[in-house]
Amino acid sequence: MKRARYIHLADMLSTAIEEGKLAPGTKLPTHRAFAEQFSVALATATRVYSEVERRGLIVGEAGRGTFVRDVGLPPALGVRQTASDGLVDLVFNMPGNAGDADMLRAGLRRLAAAGDLEAMLRYQPHGGRAHERRIIAESLAGTLGPIDPDCLLVTSGGQHGLATVALGLLRSGDRVATDTLTYPGFKSVAALQGLDLVPVEGRHGVMDPDDLERQCRARKVRAVYLMPTVHNPLGAVMDEATRLHLIEIARAHDLLLIEDAAYAFLEPDPPPSLFALAPERTVYVGSFSKSLSTGLRLGYLVAPESHTDGLLEAIRATTWNAPALISGLVTGWVEDGTLAKSEATRRRDGAERQRLCRTVLGGSSVLSHRNAGFAWLSLEKGVRAEPIVTRLKAHGISASGAGPFATTVAAPQALRLAFGGIAMDALTGIFRTVRDAVDAASVS
Ligand SMILES: Cc1ncc(COP(=O)(O)O)c(C=O)c1O
Repeated sequence: MKRARYIHLADMLSTAIEEGKLAPGTKLPTHRAFAEQFSVALATATRVYSEVERRGLIVGEAGRGTFVRDVGLPPALGVRQTASDGLVDLVFNMPGNAGDADMLRAGLRRLAAAGDLEAMLRYQPHGGRAHERRIIAESLAGTLGPIDPDCLLVTSGGQHGLATVALGLLRSGDRVATDTLTYPGFKSVAALQGLDLVPVEGRHGVMDPDDLERQCRARKVRAVYLMPTVHNPLGAVMDEATRLHLIEIARAHDLLLIEDAAYAFLEPDPPPSLFALAPERTVYVGSFSKSLSTGLRLGYLVAPESHTDGLLEAIRATTWNAPALISGLVTGWVEDGTLAKSEATRRRDGAERQRLCRTVLGGSSVLSHRNAGFAWLSLEKGVRAEPIVTRLKAHGISASGAGPFATTVAAPQALRLAFGGIAMDALTGIFRTVRDAVDAASVS
């Protein structure tokens, strides 16, 4: 059967993009000009563009035209998030809001209109520009209490913040207590810096203070790494009593508390932060990746004054300073309320995704935060994650087992699903495929 003319043209355009003949950002002809160029009806040209947009290769921007997307990157909202191997990616959580491009355009315009732009082309203080540190510090008053802006250091993202803590405050061989399931990025920092991770028992992502105490009595532990408000991967929010108990142990054994708050904004009503409760021994690690944009690479550390020199030295040794262009953009959004709006949008978006997840996968075995774009699926006794991951791959879905998150030798049998960046209308189908793969593994 003869292939429809529009499919033929869509294939041709797709090939030109995939082969790099049309570079990312290239503006395509209007539908009318395309129709004239290929002697087809205007409606056919529109179908061609719709088809290529559906494939995630171009994007139409209201009032501006149609542009080639960067196919080397995971597509953003509205298109299936795919890994570089073409699989739907449930491994990395890359949330996005509709309208992100407009936010960036407006932010760049505002920056361009500001005075003393030249200052952005210079080296900056290692901890960031004073007025920007003040803006971020003031925005954190509700969570951390009043903080001295000199104790807030701007970093190139939360991951850089963690590496800065390890490099600036810890030494090779130091023991750091962690949950038995923790953020893999901290595991890689620990491995590079030669830290010795001490897994501490807990329940569903909430560390057990009694086990921490046991570990500290058995050996010298230097620090504890925690995500008390929205744990990754389990989504837990630690209650205040447990926080206070952990702090008591930290004080008794002189532990440094590393409080990772990358996902904390997802919880609208959190208990007091560890930093607010124990400012003398907590380093608070913040990030704008999940609340605004993963690509901007901006975060911050808030630390006791006694620790800032070590942290500044580590920033100096790694990035010298976070780029002022980026910190200028982000602090503009902190000040004008864009950040708060984006956080609220992400909470609503996450809540809808969680509802779909629990509807299809059932609530009982799913652990997650009610507003998060990720979930943890514990498998029944005797069911192994590996064949499920393999089966999902055959269905075009890339997912992860517990291994990357585990700090114990034996990882539990579970699936980690990250779906913050998947198109909402594709989610139910993807969850059904996951459910079928789990069911198939359960009976075999
Ligand atoms: C718990 C946690 N901490 C830190 C980070 C690092 O964030 P960033 O993108 O700001 O480096 C992540 C990213 O996924 C995370 O999940």
